[in-house]
Order: sequence, then structure tokens, then C-alpha cells
Amino acid sequence: MNPVKVGLLGLGTVGGGTVSVLKRNAQEIQRRAGRGIEVVIATARDINKPRSFDTSGIELTSDPAAVVNHPDVEVVVELIGGTDLAFEMVMAAINGGKHVVTANKALIAKHGNEIFAAAQQKGVMVAFEAAVAGGIPVIKAIREGLAGNQIQWLAGIINGTGNFILTEMRDKGRDFADVLAEAQALGYAEADPTFDVEGIDAGHKLTILASIAFGIPLQFDKCFTEGITKITREDVSYAEELGYRIKHLGVARRTAEGVELRVHPTLIPERRLIANVDGVMNAVLVKGDAVGPTLYYGAGAGAEPTASAVVADLVDVVRVLTADPENRVPHLAFQPGALADTQILPVDAIKTAYYLRLEAADKAGVLADVTRILADAGISIEAMIQKEPAEGATTVPVIMLTHRISEGQMNAAIAKIEALVSITGKVTRIRLETLAA
Ligand code: HSE
Repeated sequence: MNPVKVGLLGLGTVGGGTVSVLKRNAQEIQRRAGRGIEVVIATARDINKPRSFDTSGIELTSDPAAVVNHPDVEVVVELIGGTDLAFEMVMAAINGGKHVVTANKALIAKHGNEIFAAAQQKGVMVAFEAAVAGGIPVIKAIREGLAGNQIQWLAGIINGTGNFILTEMRDKGRDFADVLAEAQALGYAEADPTFDVEGIDAGHKLTILASIAFGIPLQFDKCFTEGITKITREDVSYAEELGYRIKHLGVARRTAEGVELRVHPTLIPERRLIANVDGVMNAVLVKGDAVGPTLYYGAGAGAEPTASAVVADLVDVVRVLTADPENRVPHLAFQPGALADTQILPVDAIKTAYYLRLEAADKAGVLADVTRILADAGISIEAMIQKEPAEGATTVPVIMLTHRISEGQMNAAIAKIEALVSITGKVTRIRLETLAA
């Protein structure tokens, strides 16, 4: 049988990795897919640039439409990123009856509902394993491997750049900007690195995971995101003293009231495996009602780890090229007509535990005032540390861990604590998840 011809949009970090993996593992891939897979045309910004990978046999062009409209191309791989040109090209490919493989989380999180509806209508596949957690096959695991479960919650470290920054800051005391520059040089960071550090990229990925876990449409606009830029060395070290690590976590939880969808810095017990996921590595913890907790771990970014997922999607597409579209695995795990309209909860309604740090006047009765406010709000304290005042200081840091409470109730209590004359400045609040089975 003739090889399946692929057109590649984008020959950057992941595009290069995809070409290399397809060439290096061509025989194994053919044995798995039943047919060879060959890239015949690819777009590149500068087609004459020297490259570290072999582009022989690939026509290079700067025109994306030439790839999408190439008469031999059956599958278009979109690796250009962004949501403008990428959306236009993916829709053009679908409308031209071509299958699509994409690593573009922003595209799927924001336009996935429309893209999948068009793909359904045209009877083509849109595969997106590489969009979440790089090389970890977590989409496949949730969509297919856990199909017998009701997924109750999932929590993931799903941005390699952010995890790399937090790890280097904690272990080596390095500066935020310095570590970010290294992540950019290594090709991990997004074109706009604020997407990494402000939780936007993780929000895109969490939106996708929540959809396939709970069978709901993609709703990135309802995902709460808070970045890691305000995490200080002192919070990292107080958290460690209390037995916790601070990670930038995406949490999706199904509750009786709706779905929590949130990305924020989070204290997690250091004894959990996921608390020890460091550097650019990603991990996703998924709790199913039948299987219990399961953990998926691996490289979340980088050329060949991401290419590993792109190529796996290509193999999947090639395997079912001749299958009846009605009998394929649905894009969002659940049949398109069976998606639920469960509401995504506003952030005030989420429930979590909290780490609080406040600067209190070093005098009698101050802590009593603070604990009275918390008690009146029904907030129970789990642990507390009060530090000695620094030489000559009139205030002391007080650190508290609370039990679970709604964000709205916690906001109201924090406002009252900040209004006390004996409390200086803002209360630092970091959410805490025990991730208990
Ligand atoms: N910027 C992303 C990250 C790339 O650091 O995880 C992989 O999606």
C-alpha cells in the first residue's frame, strides 16, 4: 500500500521533532499503522534556513494554503500555533475533506466546538493528543482507557515552563526572569510567555481535559486562571516547613452544583507523587469512581516528546482512514449529541482549603481577633505557625492552613482580617489541595 501523505504546517521545534521521529522510526510506524506515513510538504517561515534535521523529500513552502490544498495530502498536521491562521487553515483542511492532527491547545480550547462540529459533518478526524501535556498520552487514557468510569476530578501540572521555573526557584534560588529566559531558549515556552506564567496555557489544556473527562463542551472563557508571578521564596519555604510543595495546578472537579475549572498556584502535600514532579515534566492525576486515582507522568514540552504525541495521532488517523466515521472514537470522548450542559462554577463557588500568610502586630489579642473572624465565618484552622519578629521589627508573620471552605466565604473573611488595624498589608492566600484518594 502507498504511504499516507502528510502536509505539515510549521517546521519549528515540534515540526522538526515530528519530521525526525517519522524518519527515524519509519519502519516501526509502518508496522503499527499498516501503511507508511510520509511528510511531502511543509511550511517554514524561512525555507532556506539551515536545519538540524533531514528535510529531504519534503517540499518547503512559505504558503500554508499550498499545504492544505496539496492534492496528495490526506492529513494536515497543524503546528503553527495561535488561533487566527491556524483556525483558518484547520477549517480549510476539514472543508477540503482532510484529516487534521494538531498540537494547538489554544485553538482546541477556544474553537474546538466549532472545529469538531465541522469535522463531524465532513466525516474527518481532528486528533489533538499533543495539545495537552506534551508527550503524555493522557487524552487517550481518559477518553479510552477510563471510559468505564465516572471521572470525579483531575488535577495536573500541565505547563512545563511554569513547573521548570518553580522548581529552579525552589532548588537553586534562581531568579524568575533568568529561568524563564532559559525555558524560552530550550523551546518550552509559548510565543507569548505570559501564557505560561499566568496560567493561560494550562487553562487551555485543563479546558480540554475537563471536556473529555466530564462530557461537556469546551468552555475556556469560564476557566479561572491565576499565575505564579507573585509566589515568593518565603511562601515556598513556609509551605515546605508545613510539609507542602507549591505547584501551578489545574484542577477540574465535578460537584453536585457544577464543574470547578481552575488554574492557580496550589499547596500540595509533599508526600504525594505529583508534588515531586519537577522541571519541565508534567503529570496529571485522574480520579475515576471505579479505578480510583491514576497518575500520568512524562515530558510536557519539547521537540521529540511533543512529536511523540503528534506521530501517535497520525498512526491513529491512518489506522481508521477507511473506518465508517460513525464508528470512530468521538472527538470529546462522549457522543456529540450526548454532551451535558452542566454549569462551570464561578470562582466564588469553588471549595478548597487555604494557606494564609499575614503580617500581624506583635501584641496581645491580635491572633484572637483573626481567629474570631475565621470562626465566625465557619472557617476551621488546620495548622498555624507564628514566627519570631525579625530584629527591630514590630510585626510578625503568621501562617495558617484552613479546612475547605468556599472561595466567597474566604474572600469575605480576608477582607475583614485586612481591615484590622493590627494587620499590615494584604493577606497572602494560596489555595491548598490534599488530592486525597
Ligand atoms: N509552553 C508549553 C509548556 C509547551 O511549557 O508546557 C507545551 O504545551
